[in-house]
Amino acid sequence: MQPTHRPVISATGLFTPEESISNEELVASFNTYVERFNARNAEAIAAGEIEPLEPSSVEFIEKASGIKARHVMAKAPVLDPEIMAPRWAERANDELSILAEIGVKAAREALERAGRDAADVDAVLCAASNMQRPYPAMAIEIQQALGIEGFGFDMNVACSSATFGIQTAADYIRAGNARSVLVVSPEITSGHLNWRDRDSHFIFGDVATAVLVEDAAMAPVRHWDILGTRLKTVFSNNIRNNFGFLNRAHPETADRPDKLFVQQGRKVFKEVVPMVSQMILDEAERLEIDPQGLRRLWLHQANTGMNRLIAHRVLGHEANEDESPTVLDTYGNTSSAGSIIAFHLHSDDLASGDTGLICSFGAGYSAGTVFVRRIG
Ligand code: COA
Repeated sequence: MQPTHRPVISATGLFTPEESISNEELVASFNTYVERFNARNAEAIAAGEIEPLEPSSVEFIEKASGIKARHVMAKAPVLDPEIMAPRWAERANDELSILAEIGVKAAREALERAGRDAADVDAVLCAASNMQRPYPAMAIEIQQALGIEGFGFDMNVACSSATFGIQTAADYIRAGNARSVLVVSPEITSGHLNWRDRDSHFIFGDVATAVLVEDAAMAPVRHWDILGTRLKTVFSNNIRNNFGFLNRAHPETADRPDKLFVQQGRKVFKEVVPMVSQMILDEAERLEIDPQGLRRLWLHQANTGMNRLIAHRVLGHEANEDESPTVLDTYGNTSSAGSIIAFHLHSDDLASGDTGLICSFGAGYSAGTVFVRRIG
């Protein structure tokens, strides 16, 4: 008889950039940009040829999203009203790429926490919403930097990349095609955020996370059983990024704002909350888990209002910080890494036998659930 392979989460890792931008700093920079733009275009504005830009506000950002600050890889250029984008020296091909570098940092922590030697890992999935380049794959570069044999590839499912990566890794283990798989999510979202767009300039932050998914037979005593995973995608134009190699075919529109992140935030909020709440409840039923008995929800970190509504629907009551921890207040929206940061920072206190849920949702639309139980 074939041995059964049962996937578990052995450990997680997190890399947080040192620099952080407060809402106050962000709004001061944005509003300077607005003043300069309006002054530069005063005549055209007076003639009704162009619309004046409107200022941003700290109060709006905090009330609408819950975000108070975000970490970034390069603070000064992002805050410079004449630049408003990340800047660093381009690296040579024989140097480690910046995206791979932060992925490696998070991965090393996950390996260390699992007491795992890189040589025992079979595969690396780089699961993130923005890859630095098409090839060679970021995952293969991370694999090489860590000294891992086997294979690696990149996968992009926007904000749900990490949960899609966890299910993919779990499936490799179930099938016996790998015993130890690193799912690395380096998110340098400051590169795709339009820092000049009032509607979204406050949303994103940079970070990297790693999740080590392994066969229970080799996992450390203290680990997380994966009780079940579920993935869902439903096409939506409400979150879009039209950046791509075919932009060269129409160079006249290469600098338009749609080549960066754009969204209809209100619509996303309204459509995603019921979709994800129902998905969680259906999956809990399939797994015969009482959703009201879930000890903790590690939800995607985009908006505190969304998380409040989803958690209420799942748990049957208003969730407190212990039941549904928030990290977006200091990290912003970190795309696929958000629910993993919450899990990484707020899971050590759970007791053996406690059940929780990692859940992501975002562009695509895409959503993923990973029900887990603490063991050891
Ligand atoms: N400062 C001040 N006012 C602002 C502003 C800013 N930076 N940005 C927008 N506003 C104004 C708008 O002009 C609008 O004014 P009006 O009512 O006079 O027309 C008002 O605030 C409301 O704007 P709206 O965009 O409808 O805000 P919102 O309450 O929907 O909040 C989001 C915006 C983005 C925070 C919120 O919709 C959200 O988080 N949605 C979910 C996003 C998500 O999950 N995305 C997936 C992740 S990738």
